[in-house]
This record gives sequence, C-alpha cells and structure tokens, in this order.
Amino acid sequence: VKIIAVASAKGGVGKTSLAANLGSALALLGKRVVTVDLDPQNALRLHFGLAAESVAGIARATLAGAPWRTVLVEGGGVRVLPFGALNETDRRAFEQRLDADPDWLGHSLDQLDLGADDLVLVDTPPGPSVYLKQALSTAQFVVTVVLADAASYATLPMMAGLLATYCLGRADFAGAAYLVNQVDQSRQLAADVIKVLRGSLAGHMFPGVIHEDQAVSEALAMDTTVLHYDPHGQASQDFRASAAWLLDVLARTARRSA
Ligand SMILES: Nc1ncnc2c1ncn2[C@@H]1O[C@H](COP(=O)(O)OP(=O)(O)OP(=O)(O)O)[C@@H](O)[C@H]1O
Ligand SMILES: [Mg+2]
Repeated sequence: VKIIAVASAKGGVGKTSLAANLGSALALLGKRVVTVDLDPQNALRLHFGLAAESVAGIARATLAGAPWRTVLVEGGGVRVLPFGALNETDRRAFEQRLDADPDWLGHSLDQLDLGADDLVLVDTPPGPSVYLKQALSTAQFVVTVVLADAASYATLPMMAGLLATYCLGRADFAGAAYLVNQVDQSRQLAADVIKVLRGSLAGHMFPGVIHEDQAVSEALAMDTTVLHYDPHGQASQDFRASAAWLLDVLARTARRSA
C-alpha cells in the first residue's frame, strides 16, 4: 500500500477537491483507492455522494476502540473513510489521543489489510495540526496544493520545514510534489507565478496544473466528483493527467527501492 498525503499551509486552496478527484481519477485508471478524511470539517464524504448527516467515521471509531473497517463506505468507485462528526469535548479527547500516539494513522490503516497495490489518499486540514503531523509522518508521498498567487508562494518555506521534519529522513519516504490548482489561463500573473514556482521548486512539481473549472464546484453540488460529472471537461483532463503522472512516479520510486 502507498499512502499519499494531500496538504497545504493555506486553507481553501482545493485539498479536499483534489483528494476526492485524484482518488476518482486513480480509481478510473484501475487502482483500488481508499480516501481518508483527516479533517474535522468532514467534507470529503460530500464528493462521494455520502449522506451529509451521518456522524459515523474514523474519529468516533477510534474513540470507541472500533476498527476502521466498520466505518469504511463506498461511493463512486472509491472507498471512503469519513472523519465523521464529533462534539467539542470528544474532538479534544480525539486530538489528545493522536498527539499521544504518533503511529495512530499507520496502525489504523494496517488493520484494513489493504493490498500491496492499493493507494490511500489522506486529506488534511490547512496548516500545522495533529492531523497533518499524522499524515506527513505516515505518508510515502506528499502532494502539496498551492494556488498561483503570492500568498501561496509565501507559504512554501513552512511546507518545506514540515516535510523536512516529518518526511525526508524516513527510509520509506518516496517524495513530494507541488500541484498548482485553480489556474486561470487568461491571467498573465498566474503564468508568471507558475514560472517562479517551477524555478524555486526545482523539479518537485507536477508537470501539469489543475485549471480553474466551474465543473469542480458543480460536481460537488451534485454529490459526485468532476470525473463523473464532466468527464471530458478541462478539470477532468487535468486530474487524469496528474493521476497518471503520480502513478508513474510511485512506480519509479518503488523500482528504485526494490
Ligand atoms: N480547480 C478548481 N476550479 C474551480 N473551483 C475549484 C477548483 N478547486 C477547488 N475549487 C473550489 O474551491 C473551494 C475550496 O476547495 P476545497 O474545499 O477543496 O479546498 P480545501 O483546501 O480543502 O479547503 P480547507 O482548507 O478548508 O480544507 C471549493 O468551493 C471548490 O469547489
Ligand atoms: Mg478541505
């Protein structure tokens, strides 16, 4: 199994949309995919047509000592582990639990008995948190989502620091790549910022970007991923290309370490 964390220092840049749509694209490429929602916003499930009002998820399962298998649900060809709903007291207890047990995510995933070729995509809340720490210290690959703007550029040192702390020293870590989301082709500034990003990230970037496409938010409103809602649109093409590149990189790093 390969665990891929989706992260960003800034909020609202498209992590959850990316985790859901990349997951969907990888599943359509024939991979068995599990997506994990490590964000108390509990929004990942909405992309897979799962009932918004359900409270079941990994948070309550963990507090109750129940295995994750009991809260695994299927939506649109992807298996989903929702965060679920927690009251404030339980959320604090849960976060203390995660802080005290750095191997919680890895152990919980181990118990699912996933296959060697299965892919796990982990969505995280914006910025440093116990959730991001769990995701980064368990993942073999990290996708950092950025926008083509100055604010995202300013957050690069923070992500670099987090990667250095939780990922780079680990023998099982395969790599990290930045993915630029919501690119508006008609804006020259976006093209300029992407050029600067490619310069300063020296090779650690997806070769393509995800364009701004209203089908991404429309798909969410229709309880599905854009790969199903608008399969021939720009965003779907972008997600398929990014998913294929990711598979290629993972296969190459696996061969190197074999
Ligand atoms: N490529 C895109 N084109 C158009 N809209 C997009 C695109 N990607 C994301 N969006 C929209 O941007 C908004 C934020 O996306 P999303 O919730 O995925 O971000 P996030 O990084 O997970 O946010 P948070 O930090 O709160 O978890 C949503 O309304 C989503 O539909
Ligand atoms: Mg999110």
